[in-house]
Amino acid sequence: MSKLYIKGGRRLDGTLRVQGAKNSILPILAASVLTAGNTVIENCPDISDTATAVEILKCLGCGVSRQSGVITVSSDNVDNFEIEEALMRKMRSSIVFLGAMLSRAGEAKISMPGGCELGPRPIDLHIDALSRMGAVFEDKRGYLECKCPDGLRGAEIHLRFPSVGATENIMLAAVTAKGTTVITNAAREPEIDDLSSLLRDMGAKIGTDGGNMVIEGVKRLYPVVHTVIPDRIVASTYLAAIAATGGKGKLIGANPLHFSSVIAALSDAGADVRWTKDTVTVKTDGRLKGVRNIRTMPYPGFPTDAQAPLMALMTTAKGDSVFVETIFENRFKHVNELIRMGARITVNDRVAVVEGVDKLQCSSVECTDLRGGAALAVAALSADGLTVIDNVGHIDRGYEKIEENLSALGADVKRY
Ligand code: UD1
Repeated sequence: MSKLYIKGGRRLDGTLRVQGAKNSILPILAASVLTAGNTVIENCPDISDTATAVEILKCLGCGVSRQSGVITVSSDNVDNFEIEEALMRKMRSSIVFLGAMLSRAGEAKISMPGGCELGPRPIDLHIDALSRMGAVFEDKRGYLECKCPDGLRGAEIHLRFPSVGATENIMLAAVTAKGTTVITNAAREPEIDDLSSLLRDMGAKIGTDGGNMVIEGVKRLYPVVHTVIPDRIVASTYLAAIAATGGKGKLIGANPLHFSSVIAALSDAGADVRWTKDTVTVKTDGRLKGVRNIRTMPYPGFPTDAQAPLMALMTTAKGDSVFVETIFENRFKHVNELIRMGARITVNDRVAVVEGVDKLQCSSVECTDLRGGAALAVAALSADGLTVIDNVGHIDRGYEKIEENLSALGADVKRY
């Protein structure tokens, strides 16, 4: 894996266009399996998770072509419904292809997605829900084989937690199931809305009733052209990066309503954040102040994915900041790396207390996961000297051309 070399201390200043959302493109590519014909997806982020999803589509028999940000999926000849272990391992969210394969063919075989760097990530909600819809699962030595002997049927499904992936899998299975599916406590992330809007354009009947998601199965869906929403986590990360250097910058093609909790946290810390319907600007003068109540929650709460980049920013704020991680068990792995750079952070179970220091110091650090890696880049930009960040492949899963984007804002960043 390559390394990033970041010489900190330069004030970032400039304008950046925000890429399409990673967490939208994956379920949307899975949805392209639901119909024959050519589905055209615009604003696709150029990240390695997109490449993995494309590999999965090809392995299922789809034709896929790509021209800059536009991916065209031709699903006429889908003839394989097994995702090999190597691809499942590369990207745990491949699980979202399960609902799509069941919808298209009534069968699927995937290797069990193991635990990952964020702690155990079970798929019980996915399996329970799809079982209620008529799917029958068999565990075959590490592989999960799934069949629908009587076809998929609508069901009433209550999610004990509003899981993003489980909601997406149910939606993908329900759009062509027989009858009506009601999901109570469905996830409400903007990426869920993006998937809904694609599916509705394809002919699906998705509505709401008293806050519940109601999906009436239809016989057929049709291929469409769809534009992916901007990535709110990438936008949050770049805002944190600019703020960490005491700089100023403008993000274009962003939707501030999608990450208002992050904007509120930055404003509470003393950053000057302003926005229009599709731009966000940030300006900081001097040190920010600590923020004491960043508690990760399902949308519209503070996103767990923005926790690490914001924590990196708060390492040099005046006073203490408190982060409470409620979504994933093991999402403080970046803390030890930040400590290597001089941050003062103590972790007790799911609570991290950050005592702001005047300055971080350069060091050799290692990405532990995608967002933790991005956090190290944010930290390195404000640190004294040359920080070397190893295992950058984690960052490449979700951030398009990070070194080019940061350089465009005036950072001294190289990749070797
Ligand atoms: C998605 C996002 C990820 C984000 C997360 C939470 C994608 C590709 N990834 O991941 O970036 O951090 O939402 O916003 O969209 N859980 C169960 N059983 C299940 C499923 C989930 O217990 O069957 C638990 C998980 O262990 C975790 C919590 O629910 O503690 C949230 O998981 P979920 O919302 O499903 O996250 P993902 O869809 O994996």
